[in-house]
Formats: sequence, structure tokens, C-alpha cells
Amino acid sequence: MATVDPAPSDVPTLRVVPSILSADFGSLSDAVAGVTPGIDWLHVDVMDGHFVPNLTIGPPVVASLRAHSDLFFDTHLMITEPARYLEPFRDAGADGCTVHVEVGETAALIALMRDLGLRVGLAANPDTPFEALEPFLPLVDLVLCMTVFPGFGGQSFMAEVLPKIAQVRAAADASGLTLDVEVDGGIDEHTVVDVTRAGANVFVAGSAVFHRADPLGAVSDILRAAAAERSGVAS
Ligand code: DX5
Ligand code: ZN
Repeated sequence: MATVDPAPSDVPTLRVVPSILSADFGSLSDAVAGVTPGIDWLHVDVMDGHFVPNLTIGPPVVASLRAHSDLFFDTHLMITEPARYLEPFRDAGADGCTVHVEVGETAALIALMRDLGLRVGLAANPDTPFEALEPFLPLVDLVLCMTVFPGFGGQSFMAEVLPKIAQVRAAADASGLTLDVEVDGGIDEHTVVDVTRAGANVFVAGSAVFHRADPLGAVSDILRAAAAERSGVAS
């Protein structure tokens, strides 16, 4: 299982979350089955061709995958009108949804996600400052700090986001919030060390998992590197 339950209990669980964006869409359920023994969350990237210059999947694909998997579906909505689609994604089987703070109406979207029984995530692009996230930290379960500009897998990790990750974690700790701080973009067994040190605990990885000959082994490698950094042991 690609999680490490630390002690004390208020320290957030380290979790590697494969992004299906880099999997073979022609045999998606097989790709998911291949990593399932090592994970408990799966990252589902939804793009609308407006918020980002790419199109991916909608609720029907989530519903199809749901029939093959009991994993927690961590659904990243890179779309300009999440209010229209939150309920269809919930009905399709999404467990958590993450909306981008850049689309606005954030308080209303958070309330809608709560009403729908979704775990609530809020994302920020690399150039969106901490201050845009700060008012919503007490209201959400997860903050996603994008470490690439969203739209495509396989991009290079942006180290300039590290201070914002540290700001989110420090603010959560200062307020006694047990917040998941997720990172997404260019995460592998090397970059995970820096984001763990900054305070992230949920690591989305697409190409570093599904473009490897051994995706399950890649999940383990990333988790081991994160756990070693947290425990102060060089990997
Ligand atoms: C990017 C997506 C990511 C993407 C990450 O817009 O939100 O989830 O799949 O891919 P890698 O890990 O290859 O950067
Ligand atoms: Zn994503």
C-alpha cells in the first residue's frame, strides 16, 4: 500500500496518487489494476478545453472505471464551470473533487461539494499566490498546489512553487488544521523529496508511474523517497 501512516495521528499520511492522464486510455482498467495493490487513491484529470488547452474525460469514463475499482477517486476539475458538473461527477463515482480557485465563486463551490457529500479540494496554479487560498483553508480537506501549469502530463517540476507549499502547511499547522497538501506535476522519486520537505503529503504522479516499465515499483520508489525525507533518512 502506497501510504505511510505516521505517528502522531495529526501528522498527515504520505500518499502516492497515480494520475491516469499518463495511462493507456485504451486499456484504462488494466492500467489501474496494475497499480491498485500499491495505492488507495487514484487521480482523475478532467479538462474542458477552456480552463486548460486540452480535453480529457467526463463523467461516463469515471462511471466506467468505478465499476472496476474501489479506489478513492481524487477528481481534479480543470474546468471553468465546475458547478455544472460536480453532481454528475459525484453520481459517476467521484469521491473527492478539487476545483481551481482561479475560476472564482469558491465559497459557493465548496458549499456545493459539501452538500453533495464530496471530499473538498481547492487547487491553485503555479502563479496563483498563497493569499488566494488562505481564506478557504478552514473550509477544505485538501489544497492542491500545482507544480506545473495544468493541461498536460510530462512537464518539468517547478521548484518556485515550494515556498507556497510551505506557506499552506505552516498556515494549516498554525490553525490546527489536518489538511492534505497535494502536489501535481513533475513529481517523481527525486522531486518528491523537496515537496515533502516543504510540507506536502499527497503526491500525484502521472508519467513517473505509467510511463515506467514497472508502475507499481515506481509508486513504491516515490513513497519510499518521501518517507525517507520525512524521517530524516537520506534515500
Ligand atoms: C496536469 C495534471 C496532472 C498530470 C501530471 O495538468 O493535472 O495530474 O497528469 O502528470 P505528470 O506527473 O506527468 O507531470
Ligand atoms: Zn491533476
